[in-house]
Amino acid sequence: MATDNAAGLAGVIAGQTAIATVGKQGKGLTYRGYSIHDLAEHSNFEEVAYLLIYGRLPKQAELLEYRTKLRGQRGLPAALKSVLEQIPRSTHPMDVMRTGCSMLGTLEPEGPGHDQFAVANRLTACFSGMLLYWHHFHAGGKRIDTETDDDTTAGHFLHLLHGKKPDELHRRAIDVSLILYAEHEFNASTFTARTITSTLPDFFSAVTGAIGALRGPLHGGANEAVMELIEKFPTPDAAERGVLEMIAAKKLIMGFGHRVYKISDPRSDVIKAWSKKLAEAHGDERLYRVSERIEQVMRREKNLFPNLDFYSASAYHLCGIPTAMFTPLFVVSRITGWAAHIIEQRADNRLIRPNADYIGPEPRPFVPIANR
Ligand code: ACO
Repeated sequence: MATDNAAGLAGVIAGQTAIATVGKQGKGLTYRGYSIHDLAEHSNFEEVAYLLIYGRLPKQAELLEYRTKLRGQRGLPAALKSVLEQIPRSTHPMDVMRTGCSMLGTLEPEGPGHDQFAVANRLTACFSGMLLYWHHFHAGGKRIDTETDDDTTAGHFLHLLHGKKPDELHRRAIDVSLILYAEHEFNASTFTARTITSTLPDFFSAVTGAIGALRGPLHGGANEAVMELIEKFPTPDAAERGVLEMIAAKKLIMGFGHRVYKISDPRSDVIKAWSKKLAEAHGDERLYRVSERIEQVMRREKNLFPNLDFYSASAYHLCGIPTAMFTPLFVVSRITGWAAHIIEQRADNRLIRPNADYIGPEPRPFVPIANR
C-alpha cells in the first residue's frame, strides 16, 4: 500500500548523488561539497558550471580556457534561427527554450565528435542566444548576432537583451543568481532529466523534458508568478491586505514553501540582499518593501518562508529583465545541474521505473459495445 507521505515521492530516497546536498543536517546546500554561501560570495557562474559538469573547481588557466570555449559556442545554426523565427510571437519563452533545445538536437546530435560534455557546454553557451534571437526578431524585427565578447554568461545575457554591455552591479547580480539556480539535487526537473536519461536516449531529449518540468508554477515558473503578484501592490499595506485575502481564500502564494526545506531556503537570504542592493541603487524600493511585507505576513500567518524564486523576481525586474524571461534565465543556469545529473545517471544507470498503488476497479467482464 502506498502511504500518504509517498504522495509526490515526498521523503523518498530515489537514488544516490555526489553532486549536491539539499537541507542535509550539518551540510545545508552544497555543490560537490562547497557551500552555496561560499560559492555565491567568492565564485562565478562559469566556475560553478565547470565544477558541476567536470566534478572539480577549475584552476585559473582552466577557467580562462573554459570561458573562451563557451564564448566560441554562442552562435546559432541558420536552421535553428529559421525555426526561432517561425515560433509565434505570442509563445511563452519557456516553449521557445524547449523547442530550441529539441531543434538543436536534430542539427547537432550527440554522437561521435560531439560527446555529452560537448553537448552540455554547447547548451550552456547558447541558451541565452536562442531566447534573445527569438525575442528581438519578434519584438523589433531584428536578426541579432548572438555572439558577444563578454566573458561571462551573465554579461552576455544582459548584453544581448539590452543591446549594450551591462554595468557591473547588474552583471554581478545576475551572475550570483545563476550560481544560486544552477543545481538543487532531485528537484522535479532534474529528476525528470534523470528518468529520461535512464531509458538511454540522447542528451537533448533529457534536457528538453527537463525544461518542460521546470516551466510549471510549482517549480521554476514560480519566479514569474511572484512578479505578477508583487507588481499588483502599490504599497506594503496594500500587499498585506491582498495577501491576507489570498490566504483566507486558501490560495497559494508563489515563492513560498519548499518540499525539502522546512525552516528556510539558504538561497533566499543571498538573493534578498541583492534585491535590496539593486532597489537602493535604483532609488526605487517599492517592490522590495512590498516583498518584505509579504514575507512578514507569510511567516506570521502561515509559518512559511520565501524560497529562491521570491526575491529573484524583484531582483530580475530591477535588472530590466522582462517577467516572461525569468524562468528561461533559470534554464540558462540549471542546464549545468541537469548536465551533471545526466552524466552521473549514465555512469551508473538503472532504468527508473517505480510501481503504482492500484486504486481502480476490480477485474470485470468486458461489455461489448452494443450492450453498453
Ligand atoms: N502558499 C500557501 N500555502 C502553502 C504554500 C504557499 N506557497 N506552500 C505550501 N503551503 C501550504 C499547503 O497548502 C499545505 O497546507 P495544508 O497542510 O493545510 O494542506 C502545507 O503548506 C504543506 O504544503 P505542501 O503542498 O504539502 O508542500 P509540498 O511539499 O507538496 O509543495 C511547493 C512544495 C510545491 C514548493 C509548495 O510549497 C508551493 O506550491 N509553493 C509555491 C510555488 C513555489 O514557490 N514553487 C517554487 C519552488 S522552489 C524552486 O523551484 C526554485
